[in-house]
Amino acid sequence: MRSAKFITLEGIDGAGKSTHINFIKQYLTQNKIDFVVTREPGGTELGEKLRELLLHDPMHAGTETLLMFAARFEHLQNIIMPSLNEGITVLCDRFSDATLAYQSAGKGVSEEFIKMLQKYTHASVNPDLTFLFDLPTEVSLERLKKTRVLDKFEKEAQQFHDNVRQSYLTLAKLEPSRFHVIDSTQSIDTIQSILKNVLDKTIK
Ligand code: TMP
Repeated sequence: MRSAKFITLEGIDGAGKSTHINFIKQYLTQNKIDFVVTREPGGTELGEKLRELLLHDPMHAGTETLLMFAARFEHLQNIIMPSLNEGITVLCDRFSDATLAYQSAGKGVSEEFIKMLQKYTHASVNPDLTFLFDLPTEVSLERLKKTRVLDKFEKEAQQFHDNVRQSYLTLAKLEPSRFHVIDSTQSIDTIQSILKNVLDKTIK
């Protein structure tokens, strides 16, 4: 029998997650897999309110970290854990790796502090599969400027995004069986065939 999977998507801003999440949704539907799509910060009513604050209000990086985990705890309790327990696959646009990349590598919050919060909020729940969409920050920032009004994180300097990118790549090296790093400079068709291959192996 298939068991429900916890799948996360990560990457620097502008790396193309939103395009590819639609392909993954299509894949899961075609393969008759029950799933929910959700995101962080957000995913619950309270989480979405916290998202608004997190993306637009200036705050201390420590406050930001704690609010990310407050939203995450609510999300785990109300959406992620109940879904997985009912056999429903969870497709989540960002999760805890993002806090290590953005708040620790990007903003200097202690990694130990974040790991302690991870242990408290989700010691027994971790993604089975993480797609890391990777591309040079100069390309992603150029893409972002053309497509939307930038939020607080997207407005950060290139050095910030470089640090976030390197942190993600380091996390991926530490857990090669969970992470699949995808070179986002490739064509959409190439990326989709990579996604399909990985999903075939993980899900079927
Ligand atoms: P999104 O634009 O991919 O939806 O993500 C929202 C922003 O929140 C993005 O710039 C990354 C940031 N973020 C963090 O800084 N820490 C986190 O833990 C999460 C989940 C997101």
